[in-house]
Amino acid sequence: MSMISNKGSARKHLIALVGFGHVAKGLCKILLEKRDFLKEEYQFEFEIVAVTSRSRGTMFHPAGLSLSYLNYLTLNNAPFVENVREWDAVDMIRESNATVVIELAHTNLVDAEPALTHCRTAFKTGKHVICGNKGPAAIAYSQMKALAKKRGCAFLNEATVMSGTPTLSFYRNTLQGNQLTSLKGILNGATNFILGKMESGLTFDNAAEEARELGYLEADMSADVDGHDAQAKLAILANELFDLTIELSDIETKGIASITQVHIEDARREGKRWKLIASISTGGDKITAQVRPEKLDLSDPLAQVNGSLNAITLSTDLLGDITITGPGAGGTETGYAVLSDLLTLNTGAYS
Ligand SMILES: NC(=O)c1ccc[n+]([C@@H]2O[C@H](COP(=O)([O-])OP(=O)(O)OC[C@H]3O[C@@H](n4cnc5c(N)ncnc54)[C@H](OP(=O)(O)O)[C@@H]3O)[C@@H](O)[C@H]2O)c1
Repeated sequence: MSMISNKGSARKHLIALVGFGHVAKGLCKILLEKRDFLKEEYQFEFEIVAVTSRSRGTMFHPAGLSLSYLNYLTLNNAPFVENVREWDAVDMIRESNATVVIELAHTNLVDAEPALTHCRTAFKTGKHVICGNKGPAAIAYSQMKALAKKRGCAFLNEATVMSGTPTLSFYRNTLQGNQLTSLKGILNGATNFILGKMESGLTFDNAAEEARELGYLEADMSADVDGHDAQAKLAILANELFDLTIELSDIETKGIASITQVHIEDARREGKRWKLIASISTGGDKITAQVRPEKLDLSDPLAQVNGSLNAITLSTDLLGDITITGPGAGGTETGYAVLSDLLTLNTGAYS
């Protein structure tokens, strides 16, 4: 029996982090600052027992690593020198006493590896998975859900769509009893920022340069500009909210590269504004999922979403349209999304 269960805390969550970048840093800071609050308010108790990064290796302690030390490491980008194990991510997931694996390695939208292997290994060893990485939910959602269900585990993905702005949980928990008829959203902050800057007179290239300087664009900007990031998020929404099994290739996708100042000016004259819109609509037996630039009337709440913010309009049968706006990226914001999944796990209300 571990030291932790000897303390009689049967519900203590033992966390293994795969990836130790921006989001892990945000999460560690939140957990350090809110440990007492989370215990008092939500009876949420945890230890981070293992952490792995591709270049820094793996740290493990079955009773929990020091959060202050982890915070120090993230702030100083320091190497792992204490409690080091010769494990890669798969070894860590298999061998550690973690009860939940938080997958925060780089997103790969071609085959979702190595995250898919990380998730499969976690489920095989009876561990819950919280995934900030979009790959598994965008590419192999039904397979992941089935494996999780077979082992009585959770597969939670709040961070993957609109970061910490509640989206999946908002529909599941807050809008319960409603049925979704359609949705449309601005799911990529970088392209929203670029379109906004083009409206204020910048060329596409200059606007993209500014987005890059502010850290909004991926290193390979085609993930943003060509719509693939929004496409992956839309696939996750289709899987999670509409219970569809959708492939990325089922989503017709067009980015913003073809939008010029001429388009922007034409839209302005019509009282409209260009936005990169990801949408799912249902009509009869037909379901359409697509990502494309659209000219929105200024009266549309999505037309008023500026800068790098994200937003989504959920069309429901009982309440009509509900629009949520908020940050779609950031270490703290995405760390918060992971925390919200941890709290869901703590309630046991996942399926
Ligand atoms: N940042 C955001 O705002 C945001 C929002 C929503 C979702 N996400 C998603 O959340 C995930 C983490 O984002 P981030 O911003 O924290 O990324 P990041 O700063 O680039 O960090 C990624 C981390 O993953 C590690 N890693 C990569 N491959 C690995 C492997 N095979 N085994 C172990 N560790 C591995 C990297 O290790 P090394 O540094 O040692 O290579 C690094 O520590 C990504 O999938 C991202 O798409 C991010």
